[in-house]
Order: sequence, then C-alpha cells, then structure tokens
Amino acid sequence: MSTFDKVGVVGLGLMGHGICQVAAASGAHSEVIAFEEKQEFLDSGRSRIENSVNKLLSRGKIGQEDADKTLGSIHYTTNPSDLSDTDFIIEAVIENMDLKQNLYRSLNNVCKPETIFASNTSSLSITDMAEISGRADKFVGVHFFNPVQLMKLVEVIKTDHTATDVFDKAYDWVGDIGKIAVTCRDTPGFIVNRLLVPSLMQAILMMERGDASIKDIDVSMQLGAGHPMGPLTLADYVGLDTCLYIMQGWVEKFPNEPAFSLPKILEEKVAAGYLGRKSGKGFFHWENDKRGDPVE
Ligand code: 3HC
Repeated sequence: MSTFDKVGVVGLGLMGHGICQVAAASGAHSEVIAFEEKQEFLDSGRSRIENSVNKLLSRGKIGQEDADKTLGSIHYTTNPSDLSDTDFIIEAVIENMDLKQNLYRSLNNVCKPETIFASNTSSLSITDMAEISGRADKFVGVHFFNPVQLMKLVEVIKTDHTATDVFDKAYDWVGDIGKIAVTCRDTPGFIVNRLLVPSLMQAILMMERGDASIKDIDVSMQLGAGHPMGPLTLADYVGLDTCLYIMQGWVEKFPNEPAFSLPKILEEKVAAGYLGRKSGKGFFHWENDKRGDPVE
C-alpha cells in the first residue's frame, strides 16, 4: 500500500521531468499528473521523459513492460483542474519566489483541502512558500538531485508549520519511489547544496585566480577525493545560471556569511549565455550532453 494514490508534478524541466518519471516508474501510484502551463513546455517535458525511458530500455536497465507501464501511468495536461483530486503535488518550476507563491495560491483554490504540497526548491525558503499557500500545515520541501533518475537522495524539509503526519507521509513517499530520504531544518541549501555550492564556488575562484587549470582542478577532485565529477564539470552539469542564482540569493540574504562568495567569471559566463551543458558551453564545451575540452 503506497502512501499516496494520485500525485501531481508541476513543472517538467530538468528536475520535474525526472521526478515525474521516477514517480511513475515506482508503480506506487494509480496516476501521475504531469502539469505545465504552456503546451510547448509540456511537450518538451514529455519528450525528455520518453527519451530517458527509452535510454533505460535500450541499455537493458528496464524491460518493455516496465517502460510501457511508466509511460502509460502519466497523464499530461495544461489544465490545472486535473490536479484537483491529487493527494500530493511536487512543484519543480523555476526558482522565482513570486512565481512559486502565485502558483501555490492558485493550486490552493484548485486542489482538494487534503492535498499536500511539496516544493523541490534548491535554495528558497520553504516557510515563505508555506505561509502564503493557504495550507501551511500541509506543506513540505522535497529536494531531488540531478539527474533525478540516477541520484538516490531526497532531502525532506519540515517547517515550523508542517504537521507531523504530513512530514511523515512525505518521508515515507520517498521510500515508495525507491529513493533514500534525509531531513534537515528549513535552512539555505539544506544539507547538500549548503556544502556543495560553496565548494563549487571555491573551485571557480581557484580557476579564476589562475592557481590551477580547469582540467587539473577537476581531475584532482575525482582522483584525489573520489568525486564522480570534478567541480567545474558539475557546475556545468547543474547549470551555471542555477549556480549563480543560488549563490546570488545567499550573498544578498546573508552578506556576513564568509562561505558565500560569488566569482566574477561566473557572472560573466552567465551574462554571455554560457550556461554549461544545456547551452553547449560553460567551463567545458558540451555536445549532445557529452563533455568536451575545457573552454580556454
Ligand atoms: N535517464 C536515463 N539514463 C540516464 C540518465 C537519465 N537522465 N542520465 C544518465 N543515464 C544513463 C547513462 O546513459 C548511462 O548508461 P550506460 O551506462 O548504459 O551508458 C548510465 O545512466 C550511467 O551514466 P554515466 O555513464 O554517465 O555514469 P556515471 O557512472 O558517470 O554516473 C552520474 C553519472 C550519476 C551523473 C555521476 O557522474 C554523478 O554522480 N555525478 C555527480 C552528480 C551530482 O553531484 N549531482 C548533484 C548535483 S546538485 C543538485 O542536483 C542539486 C540542485 O538543487 C542544484
């Protein structure tokens, strides 16, 4: 018996399409409602999910029956009222507080009173969203990692308003979909990003100062510290705009925190449209999602 029968995923971008896919693949739900406001974003989310499922199928990681079941249990929609009878909604829209707050206000009007809301935000305050949602007691954070299909961890965040049974259900749901849950207070970056993002910034600053080359910084952290990707590859992988957005928000909100610093080169790259893997260029060149040479 799974924790939630019907779940919704709002936003099918880099994180949302993966969340939708793993929820559907778990077989724990009668239906997964995949929602985007605009048809073009819904279509691109759908093709991302289909490509990923096909990749797993072609590599023999799942069988045809599992692939069909996963794809068959997702209902794609641009109609918010299709979310009305979901038990749990995970929001993964862009990291903009105004946009998220407006979304929660409208979801509160559309959804049944029991629906639990969860945000996949990586750096914004869960409390600030919960307080305008009209159901602060039924609001949690569930933070996934990229690529969602492969990364096992999910951070589950409770605010001062979250009801204990709501938190427990969100925590149990993470197990239902085959992931490992950890928990943390509603603090900037929770556990992983609070430790990871400052370290990515240090690697960028090191490269900016000319202490070592892009390649040597990355190889060092792979071979000397056992990380699967070097920090500059990882920054490209996460998206330089996302890294910038996270750190910019923290620097503004916590100007006296010495661990929060913003390398100039990161701002310059993002301003120039070099966003990493998704734009084909960041600290490395990227082609068809494969990393190439460092950018000189
Ligand atoms: N869907 C389906 N299959 C996928 C996939 C996807 N989205 N992504 C990769 N795969 C497949 C690959 O095609 C590959 O298949 P194959 O072995 O049959 O060729 C398989 O999965 C493994 O991929 P790799 O060969 O690239 O294997 P790696 O062993 O290098 O693992 C990785 C890839 C798991 C991404 C590993 O490099 C890693 O752990 N990197 C670090 C990732 C990380 O730190 N993420 C967190 C970022 S921070 C974050 O997300 C928070 C946010 O808030 C900013």
